[in-house]
Amino acid sequence: MPMQRVSILGATGSIGRSTLDVIARHPDRFRVVALTAERQVDQLAQLCAKHGAVNACIADASLVNALEQRLAEHGSTAKVLSGKDGLLQIAGLAETDCVVAAIVGAAGLEPTLAAARLGKKLLLANKESLVMAGPIFMETVRKHGAMLLPIDSEHNAIFQCMPELHAGEVPPDRIRRILLTGSGGPFRSRARADLRSVSPEEACAHPNWVMGRKISVDSATMMNKGLEVIEAHWLFGVRPEQIQVVVHPQSVIHSMVEYADGSVLAQLGNPDMRTPIAQALAYPDRIDAGVPSLDLFGMSALTFEEPNFERFPGLRLAYEALRTGGTAPTVLNAANEIAVAAFLDGRLPFLYISTVIDETLQSVPRTAVGSIEDVLEADRRARSYAAQVVGRSQSRVA
Ligand SMILES: NC(=O)c1ccc[n+]([C@@H]2O[C@H](COP(=O)([O-])OP(=O)(O)OC[C@H]3O[C@@H](n4cnc5c(N)ncnc54)[C@H](OP(=O)(O)O)[C@@H]3O)[C@@H](O)[C@H]2O)c1
Repeated sequence: MPMQRVSILGATGSIGRSTLDVIARHPDRFRVVALTAERQVDQLAQLCAKHGAVNACIADASLVNALEQRLAEHGSTAKVLSGKDGLLQIAGLAETDCVVAAIVGAAGLEPTLAAARLGKKLLLANKESLVMAGPIFMETVRKHGAMLLPIDSEHNAIFQCMPELHAGEVPPDRIRRILLTGSGGPFRSRARADLRSVSPEEACAHPNWVMGRKISVDSATMMNKGLEVIEAHWLFGVRPEQIQVVVHPQSVIHSMVEYADGSVLAQLGNPDMRTPIAQALAYPDRIDAGVPSLDLFGMSALTFEEPNFERFPGLRLAYEALRTGGTAPTVLNAANEIAVAAFLDGRLPFLYISTVIDETLQSVPRTAVGSIEDVLEADRRARSYAAQVVGRSQSRVA
């Protein structure tokens, strides 16, 4: 078994730390080459020292000196890089076989694309890069022969339920539907009127998964499922109408694929991100992820509900943006990031998150996606417009 040399973009986050946990269980298989963070210098330095990383990058370049000092304190001699250029260098290090894309949000796009351009094995958690730049991203993967493995639990489940995909492409007429499951988040059974004054802490208290704050809010609005619909479209080449969101509160079935003959294949497991991460790290082999066995006898029931598009308009907006095409998904993603950040800062009520996205989608013109510059320009425009809507919403609420 050749040693796999791994770099993790976003190592200090929830996915980054779960990845390091799996890697640490298999020192004979994986070696950590590089770790990155945005601002958590002490965490990053500790992780570099613990896992023997030889490169460290801090995205906020003003923290370089602080990182150097912390690395020395923790006894690490890792080479220090910084800023966007540093992230791009880490993504392309010749001594790395596998890049884990675990930065949250649009900041992950360029480094993730850089790894794809270099034909790396790419473990994709950063769904925002596919939502923003789906056609360019997939073309880059194809052109440069990168091995793209999804670690978002649903997409990893779908990948596992599509054995044909492992040998190339799945003929489109074989698949009838993708059944994309989601827990429904912490507000699944709350009336919309009851959500007016929910706090960031309530929104981040996910019933089944422990995740970063941005994706936790996305789960509470169900925009996370909307982003995943777009992600599934690009990863698996299915039309929007072939993707059915299924609310499954127990988070045991991580998604399903229904074939033309009526067969439905599902992947089950405890809700623990170490399972999809280990599957992708070791693919096509299987390794221990530290995840306990699924207790089938301890489960009272597995239940399924249709999603409520009125209570969770973010999901409807995501389908609409996917059908509109061009830069519409880029605009949706940017407006969502601005609105979620404002909500987490206490500047925007929860129910206004979808208002900001809706108004931005209606006002920022959709353009064709011919290049990454088109994507970045649409992202900039949408952020600027969404920030204005946040400002107006504040005065409406006040
Ligand atoms: N958590 C999950 O269970 C889960 C499941 C499926 C998919 N995902 C996806 O995985 C990605 C990461 O999610 P997460 O929950 O792990 O997020 P998280 O806990 O918030 O961690 C985000 C990571 O990205 C870094 N980062 C944040 N902003 C950055 C920037 N502008 N430039 C460079 N690095 C930056 C953070 O550094 P600092 O620590 O310094 O801030 C941290 O290392 C997201 O795209 C999410 O949708 C997550």
